[in-house]
Amino acid sequence: MRILFLSTRHNGLSQRAQVELEELGHHLDIAEVADGTQMEAAAQRFRPDLILAPMLKSAIPASVWQRYTCLIVHPGIPGDRGPSALDWAVLEGASAWGVTVLEARDELDGGPVLAHREFPLREASKSAIYRRETTDAAMVAIREALERYQRGQRPPFDEPSPHRGRERPPCRQSDRQIDWDGPVEQVLRHIRSADSAPGLLASLGGVKARLYGVHAEAKLRGKPGRLLAQRDGAVCVACADGAIWISHLRRRQGLSADDPRYDIKLPAAQVLADRLMGVPELPLAADARPSGSTWQPIRYRERGHNGYLHFDFLNGAMGTEALERLLAAYRHARARPTRTLVLCGGEDFWSNGIDLNAIEASRDPAEASWGNILAMNALVREIVLTHDKRTVALMRGNAGAGGVILALAADLVYAREGIVLNPHYKGMGGLYGSEYWTYLLPRRVGETAARLLTESLQPLGTARARRIGLVDGVMAGSELPGAMEAILAPGNELRHWREELARKAARREEDERRKPLERYAEEELVEMRRNFFGADQAYHLARRAFVRKLEIVPEGVAAERA
Ligand code: COA
Repeated sequence: MRILFLSTRHNGLSQRAQVELEELGHHLDIAEVADGTQMEAAAQRFRPDLILAPMLKSAIPASVWQRYTCLIVHPGIPGDRGPSALDWAVLEGASAWGVTVLEARDELDGGPVLAHREFPLREASKSAIYRRETTDAAMVAIREALERYQRGQRPPFDEPSPHRGRERPPCRQSDRQIDWDGPVEQVLRHIRSADSAPGLLASLGGVKARLYGVHAEAKLRGKPGRLLAQRDGAVCVACADGAIWISHLRRRQGLSADDPRYDIKLPAAQVLADRLMGVPELPLAADARPSGSTWQPIRYRERGHNGYLHFDFLNGAMGTEALERLLAAYRHARARPTRTLVLCGGEDFWSNGIDLNAIEASRDPAEASWGNILAMNALVREIVLTHDKRTVALMRGNAGAGGVILALAADLVYAREGIVLNPHYKGMGGLYGSEYWTYLLPRRVGETAARLLTESLQPLGTARARRIGLVDGVMAGSELPGAMEAILAPGNELRHWREELARKAARREEDERRKPLERYAEEELVEMRRNFFGADQAYHLARRAFVRKLEIVPEGVAAERA
């Protein structure tokens, strides 16, 4: 079928639907639309067999849905209606939630239901649930809806949902409000209901800011609302019956609009720098095993011959300091008497490359970009040159730009089924890219596919990534990490392990003879220097627009995005 996507933003869910439906042989056209007029124009232009709206914030006009069957993906259970479906479910601590695919009608989210799927609701932020459970369930529901549509089956279907929703108003700050002398469980739930957008507004250290990236703390105690500690950029604040860590804040109050930190999601300690006098830094080593829950973004654990290095950075953004900590943890892990080192990334994202927010908030974004890319390169180089261990990248979440290339530095690359990869840089104002990508990408997929991936700027699904050799294996989320143990076991057997290391050394030597590793980086960095310090401001404008959610209009002037 020829399917037109109408999306407010072609986000992770919409991209996943694109790669899955293309795998099924459908022809897709993608239109990012802000209003009914743009939807009419897109329908007119593409004349599809069917319209699908994977992530649409405004109503489809009758002129479109009366002419074309329009299927809407609503991130809520059947009967649920309104713009804050998942917000309410997380806020109210629902035990299960779901996704519904319904036909567009005059009433928003009120059309006939073609398919729906439910899932248990875990304790996580709204956006983490959207990216994983909602997206996985949406794919099943979309496929079922399309099959029914193609077979000519029309709703209603005789399959009652175990849960029944209702119309809900938009979820406001006043609905989510927290008191620091409330219980931890409630405070976490309220903050998570607004994370990643719009962010719960609360008073912290005497200033109002929006809160993101929260984790329970089992040990620290204090007067509710007091800042108890800081760690790697996060702050710990006391509640009635415990405490929580907050990794990121977005602040306007008390900052002038020309303060580079103004209104950008940044590490909490950076945002509250003027309020942290006397608040102790409580570092926690990657291999420390705290007895209760706490915040430990870089964790190292061992099982048998395998070492597992986790790095859970908000939005997969890898800033310079975080990378320095990660490199130190990597070196520590490398020195351990294991045979295989598994890089696990974060649960939500594997990596999205350099931290564009931190760069945007710095006094000198060009210098900050340069420092960040050198720190990325240092980590990639260390992995590529690890001759004494097998290295494995285990991508459990989406990845973009240099974040994808980081995984390719490892000997073996595995991915959770359904993650979306964007192995290209150019979308960020023509950024050339580094991380030794000119070596690592063609080494895996060949020159032609590498060119196609980096030039087409298209998302890549795991099925195709496996076919073209970008990844070695794909696993269902439910199989992880158990499946990893079984996959790695034969190669950990001493004789095989030694043979594998010998093969790896021979290959590296051969590659080095053909072209020294450092030459790739030098060539890439010449281009990156031009991107960062040259006369062409395209990267700086694109980054600014990305971080501040602005739209770049043709003349290169940025205007507020809806
Ligand atoms: N630095 C800082 N924040 C980043 C980031 C980065 N490199 N990459 C993604 N994010 C943030 C987004 O701002 C967004 O934050 P929000 O929830 O506060 O709005 C969040 O991560 C999710 O990203 P989003 O763009 O909504 O996800 P997506 O699935 O629609 O798109 C990408 C995925 C990878 C295509 C897109 O995030 C992207 O282009 N990222 C930038 C990659 C890049 O150019 N890195 C620098 C070169 S190495």
